[in-house]
Amino acid sequence: VRIFVPRDAAAVAVGADEVAAALAAAAPRPIEIVRTGSRGMHFLEPLVEVETPEGRIGYGPVAPGDVAALLAAGMLEGADHPARVGRPEEHPFLARQTRSTMALCGVVDPRSEADYAAHGGWRGLEAALAMDAEARVKTVAASGLRGRGGAGFPTGVKWDTVRRAEAPRKYVVCNADEGDSGTFADRMTMEGDPFRLVEGMAIAGISIGATYGYVYIRSEYPHAIEAMEHAIAGARRAGRLGPSVGGSGLAFDMEVRVGAGAYVCGEETSLLNSIEGKRGIVRAKPPLPALQGLFGMPTAVNNVLSLAAVPAIFAEGPEAYERLGLGRSRGTMPVQLAGNVRYGGLVEVPFGITLGELVDGIGGGTASGRPVRAVQVGGPLGAYFPPALFDTPFDYEAFAAKDGLIGHGGVTVFDDTVDMAHMARFAMEFCAAESCGKCTPCRIGAVRGVETVDRILAKREARQPVGSELTLLADLCDTMKFGSLCALGGFTPYPVTSAMTHFPEDFDLDARRLPAGLQAAE
Ligand code: NAI
Ligand code: SF4
Repeated sequence: VRIFVPRDAAAVAVGADEVAAALAAAAPRPIEIVRTGSRGMHFLEPLVEVETPEGRIGYGPVAPGDVAALLAAGMLEGADHPARVGRPEEHPFLARQTRSTMALCGVVDPRSEADYAAHGGWRGLEAALAMDAEARVKTVAASGLRGRGGAGFPTGVKWDTVRRAEAPRKYVVCNADEGDSGTFADRMTMEGDPFRLVEGMAIAGISIGATYGYVYIRSEYPHAIEAMEHAIAGARRAGRLGPSVGGSGLAFDMEVRVGAGAYVCGEETSLLNSIEGKRGIVRAKPPLPALQGLFGMPTAVNNVLSLAAVPAIFAEGPEAYERLGLGRSRGTMPVQLAGNVRYGGLVEVPFGITLGELVDGIGGGTASGRPVRAVQVGGPLGAYFPPALFDTPFDYEAFAAKDGLIGHGGVTVFDDTVDMAHMARFAMEFCAAESCGKCTPCRIGAVRGVETVDRILAKREARQPVGSELTLLADLCDTMKFGSLCALGGFTPYPVTSAMTHFPEDFDLDARRLPAGLQAAE
């Protein structure tokens, strides 16, 4: 009998390795343990699945000490038990999702190229190989795919720019420097379905005329690094990478590069500097990396989720992907529910679901059981939204219209014990710590920002007027937003001003003293 135990870092952190060892030691008959990725139901990890005639049956969360009782209860036959969750795909958390990019996470064996192929892997690459380069780029453009790293730039336009550029060499660079707090979709993809990312990179390479690719992974992701290195070697052995991809005569190969863990190395030009062995400092744009990127050559820098979306677009056809979504946000988004949330994990849904459906509907509200007070969307540089904005659909434009961003899809939930002035301070502190130092609004502004919020906090405690400090903070945010060279300094104002706008009472006990333009939303 085959038993599936995740090797995903989130599952390992709560004991998946010990559970696998306990199963191997205690099983009454021969079992084969397959170490998969995670399905993304973090509240059920470690989630153990058993292959039965009715399909895989899940049990979770399983502690090592539960194993003997589960085996005695007939777990290997899929028998009933309080920890039995049934077929995972029928669990309400997964049943409400539309999995495309993350379809095989937790299902496939991430160490087996043959298992990936058996689950429909490489069909996208085969379809792409049957087209010419222009048709490949048109396929991506027709899908409506936009950059999943956060900026939402149309992937087809980016690829076309690189494809048309004349140069002796071109590169594909995968940005796997997933630095946003509360995000884990890149990591889950690399750990749970790494061949999909290899396939997406190979398709990108043959579409834009690049013969080499780099996956830039943060050193904090050792499991992902190992999984990707394993998958690249496996794909090479299977002829999917190398001098003749899939026997086509087109060359494409790739390697992993490990970053040292600076947040700003997720910014594409810092990342390129880092791969080149230089200090991770932001380059001014233009020139765009699409024209002058890695080693001065045209380079497509794409996020893990953008590249991992590509195989399904080619395998199923771009129309199937384009049909999903809302407005200009097409397809699905792997949303990451984290923080103080009851059912946290990975939620892949078509764009258009409201923030409230995500947090209350799928997430089940807070883990503490207290009311939700604020939700930060888009990582540490994203805006804080109050429940009054829960009707906002998950869509790049809808969030921008409310002075927010969806970024990389991180959604972090806070209950009513949160102090939003402290959260504003954290944003400035984070920026001060992570600033690359290249431009003044960010390097100096963030330090002045921490000092200003500290004065606000001190005056708030002393019940003194804070109006002038709030005006100064709003002014500083304006300077950082419009004067910074990259998104780190430019987006730090989002959490600060959204906290001031939607939660004025946390800054000033008499909220009426807020400067004009920073009144609470109606
Ligand atoms: P951007 O808007 O400057 O550029 C987006 C992408 O489009 C870049 O790759 C750029 O080179 C490319 N591009 C722009 N114009 C182009 C053209 N005409 N032809 C070809 N390519 C073109 O945004 P940026 O600064 O790259 O990213 C900011 C985003 O990063 C934010 O929205 C934020 O949400 C996100 N972010 C993501 C993090 C993560 O962990 N994934 C961490 C921090 C920020
Ligand atoms: Fe560097 Fe900050 Fe300027 Fe970005 S905004 S270039 S991180 S100093």
